[in-house]
Amino acid sequence: MTLEFLYRQPVEIRFGTGSLASLGETLRSLGASRVVVVCDRFLRARTEELRQSVPEIAGVFSDVEENPQLSGVEAAVRLIRETNADAVVGIGGGSTMDTAKFAAAIARSDAEAIAYFCGERPFPMDRLPMIAVPTTAGTGSEVTQVSVISHGSEKKTINNPAFMPRCAIVDPMLTVSVPPRTTMNTGLDAMAHALEGYWSRNHQPISDLTAIEAVRLVLENLETAWRDGTDLKARENMSLAALLGGLSFALPKTAGSHACSYPLSERYHLPHGEACAFTLDSFVRINADERLEHLARAVGLPDTDALAERIRELKRLGGLRTKLSELGEFDLDAVCREAAAHPLMRNNPVPMDEAALRRMFTALQ
Ligand SMILES: [Fe+2]
Repeated sequence: MTLEFLYRQPVEIRFGTGSLASLGETLRSLGASRVVVVCDRFLRARTEELRQSVPEIAGVFSDVEENPQLSGVEAAVRLIRETNADAVVGIGGGSTMDTAKFAAAIARSDAEAIAYFCGERPFPMDRLPMIAVPTTAGTGSEVTQVSVISHGSEKKTINNPAFMPRCAIVDPMLTVSVPPRTTMNTGLDAMAHALEGYWSRNHQPISDLTAIEAVRLVLENLETAWRDGTDLKARENMSLAALLGGLSFALPKTAGSHACSYPLSERYHLPHGEACAFTLDSFVRINADERLEHLARAVGLPDTDALAERIRELKRLGGLRTKLSELGEFDLDAVCREAAAHPLMRNNPVPMDEAALRRMFTALQ
């Protein structure tokens, strides 16, 4: 079989401890003179501080919710239009970056956000540059064109080139204050991105390399970062793991664990990383093949079983839920039906229908 692939990575990446200080320079390099910062309410004070050194900040939108809503996008768009901003900076976790991506993509159009959310309109070609500044080590949203936004109870994962950030500033210092449980959740999300990008049906050689390195970095640093959030080397390595994890799935996309995470998050309110991790070790066992054995050995493990076991250990260590009984009244039929129907399930290398998912979940009693 001949090899064919297309690789594209358009985001300028500035990585390093203290790299947030380069925000002003980055904005100037983009020709931006008035920017709106999108963040969550915990980062509001920090962002106000930033104004001292970045006079280009014309407004701050800090009402991003944990499960970002379209109403948040609309409010951010209003502020961008009112301030006549020419760039958008998203500082925060996945929710913040996803809101900032959506807002930057549509702020120059005259249509409402709902028209784009519903797919009534194609995303405009004319959009504002967006700078992504992650404050957790996990989502990899800074290098992907994915935005997960809800409108009421409808949650959509929209994958569109309009959402690709222009620049990512990855400053591991910003992750130092992340609490241990979030460190574990987000770190395992990064692991899921790398593994799923690697075993996705659309895997390709360049993403494979970033995936192997991301898995190695998570295995070697997540426990340390979880135990001692002030360990800067572990934080730096986890920020790098999350970035490489993002690059690993940006093109191949994720697979079974992410497909299962959506019903788990929606029905049982598991944070995204915990929801992905819930089935990740099960999928390591299900998807184990020669390629995955190669990855396991490349990251210093004897085999794929050891990889699954290590993921399970990390979940237990972090106090993450690992059994159906910990989720309350579990609706096996509904979760299996929704996970099987999720488009990402089609990327799983081993076909997973409702019956196969039922077998997998039943083993997690
Ligand atoms: Fe994820």
